[in-house]
Amino acid sequence: MLRKKYIELINKVNTDPYRLHFHLMAPTGWLNDPNGLCVIKGVNHIYFQYTPFSATWGLKSWGHYTTENWIDYTEHPIFLRPSIAEDIDGVYSGSALVENNKIHYYYTGNVKYTDKKYDYILNGREQNVIEVISEDGFNYKKKNILLKNSDYPQNMSTHVRDPKVFKVEDEYFMILGARTKEDIGCAILYKSLDLKKWEYFFEIHSEKKYGYMWECCDLIKIEDKWFLICCPQGVEQEGINFANIYQIGYFPIDINFKEKTYSLGEFVELDRGFDIYAPQTFIDNKDRNVLIAWMNS
Ligand code: FRU
Repeated sequence: MLRKKYIELINKVNTDPYRLHFHLMAPTGWLNDPNGLCVIKGVNHIYFQYTPFSATWGLKSWGHYTTENWIDYTEHPIFLRPSIAEDIDGVYSGSALVENNKIHYYYTGNVKYTDKKYDYILNGREQNVIEVISEDGFNYKKKNILLKNSDYPQNMSTHVRDPKVFKVEDEYFMILGARTKEDIGCAILYKSLDLKKWEYFFEIHSEKKYGYMWECCDLIKIEDKWFLICCPQGVEQEGINFANIYQIGYFPIDINFKEKTYSLGEFVELDRGFDIYAPQTFIDNKDRNVLIAWMNS
């Protein structure tokens, strides 16, 4: 039944004169953030927030494309979909880390209660960090629950999501975007030595408040400089600055993982229009630092 509907939709979108031929679109329905970017056997894997049967948001899964040359793309079946109590209201955004020929995926399992009245900020919501491990980018055996809201620091609201995992020397770090109970946007870091046990490390926030929530955080090193890319929600427009619905940009950051210290520079917008949001970076199959974002958010 669903297959029939999907084929009908595919036929419809394939003859749509407005279909994009340069940028990636969802095969059908709706797409938002890029997720789980990684290279497996020389091929770039691009997963994304996907609702195949609704063109206006809905229950999120991870759709999947691959490309070797950034010109020709292959569509694959949905990789991750809600299937357990901890992700029942959406397989939200996350990242991938390739270690010892295994791909470790980390995502936010979203849960939204509906049985009574909630504000969905301080209550009524769970955002769990879940891991799946794959050897080929297409199959995995089980979903491992790594962190739940009760594991996040006491000052966090229920909004803590979009894990990005990266390695510095021989230690692993996970950065998550968050909203404190006082409505301050920030990022929190966890640390692991074995990718199994994760310990809270520290919180990163700006001196001047930048919005109430930071989505899609990413910490990357380019040459010898670190950057904290994030998407602050709730920043007021100032002239031609911050004209997007939600912002996308980066703080240059001087971070010392051994000493647990950091200092943030001034926030710089990556885009001033309404066009890009929720970016993710990875090192592609040509060894370049590539940033992909959700366009026309
Ligand atoms: C950003 C975002 C993420 C979340 C996902 C849900 O656009 O809101 O924070 O994980 O989209 O689709």
